[in-house]
Amino acid sequence: HTLELELHDIMKGDYGTFMQKEIFEQPESVFNTMRGRLDFETESLRLGGIQANVVAIRRAKRILFIACGTSHHSALAVRALFEEAWEKPVFVEIASDFIDRKPPIFRDDVCVFISQSGETADTLNALRYCKDHDALCIGVVNAVGSCIARETHCGVHLNAGPEISVASTKAFTSQVVALTMIALLVGQSLALFQDRSRAIIKDLHMLPDIIRKVLAMNEQILTIAKECSKQQSILLLGRGGQYAAVLEGALKIKELAYIHAEGIHAGDVKYGPMALVNQARCIIFLALRDSHFNRTKAALAQIADCGAKPVVLCSIGDRAELSPFASSVLELPIVDEALQSVTSVIALQLLAFHIGVLRDNAVDTPRNLAKSVTVE
Ligand code: G6P
Repeated sequence: HTLELELHDIMKGDYGTFMQKEIFEQPESVFNTMRGRLDFETESLRLGGIQANVVAIRRAKRILFIACGTSHHSALAVRALFEEAWEKPVFVEIASDFIDRKPPIFRDDVCVFISQSGETADTLNALRYCKDHDALCIGVVNAVGSCIARETHCGVHLNAGPEISVASTKAFTSQVVALTMIALLVGQSLALFQDRSRAIIKDLHMLPDIIRKVLAMNEQILTIAKECSKQQSILLLGRGGQYAAVLEGALKIKELAYIHAEGIHAGDVKYGPMALVNQARCIIFLALRDSHFNRTKAALAQIADCGAKPVVLCSIGDRAELSPFASSVLELPIVDEALQSVTSVIALQLLAFHIGVLRDNAVDTPRNLAKSVTVE
């Protein structure tokens, strides 16, 4: 037992917790997800497992992403890109709900199972159900040799390295990168998508440096965490790719800070949640520059009209425009819209981590939670 403890101390290196180590490791872990697969000079992409099935994937009628927790959020983060690259219906499912419904699945469906551990029982059960219905089953898994990795027909390993901290961090960003690469591969047959594809590859190349810039905002984020740590409830609002980011941010705050947090689609606030908004409400608003920016700004103005002064996360250059609506503004480095959930989620991981530490929580091992949930 002592040996194991010492080993853990060695693995943590200069970091106090695995959580912190894994957050700060993300420039390297996303790089490792791309290593040997994306050649930035020739702009070519090689994904062994997927390539062999790419014709079947392109012919399929629907893609369904099935996962739990953080892995479910990474599917939401890439849904729009798949719709763009593939021009066919894309569904995102929570594995436990999928299992309850047992919906119709056909042999010309592609089912993608996303899991850090590869052992999550709900996801595994969904996989077995889809396999029984003869769908093509793809795994996007971190743990090599895990059940989901073995039982899927083909897949992509994240290569993010072991994730020890119970709440998932670096797996999310690697999932977004791996899924983005799959979308690029599928979209290679679509002439209209080629310029878009080139722009995304360019930013994937820059991604480790972009992530370093987000991590360099640590002190600024700590200042905001000090304010948030006294709250009993936090609302996180965003739309487009930022909708996935607010759901993931809220999950991290629940897990690490034990504060009630809710991610809400910024367009959906007016249908009820607006009743919660007043001067005293702690709100984090994601307003990155993307194709929904005008609508995002309109939603932010509505929130401000109700007296709230949210913390706003935006793209570099937008501080002046958005600060009239905000209590404070964090400017995130610019990256292609398809990858914006990476920058904003990392900022929210840091926020949740700092709130957890400020509240003296065991951030590596949150109460009542397990790293891999092997029960239904
Ligand atoms: C647990 C972990 C989460 C994780 C979820 C799904 O709840 O605490 O961090 O997102 O399981 O795990 P998976 O291994 O399937 O990605």
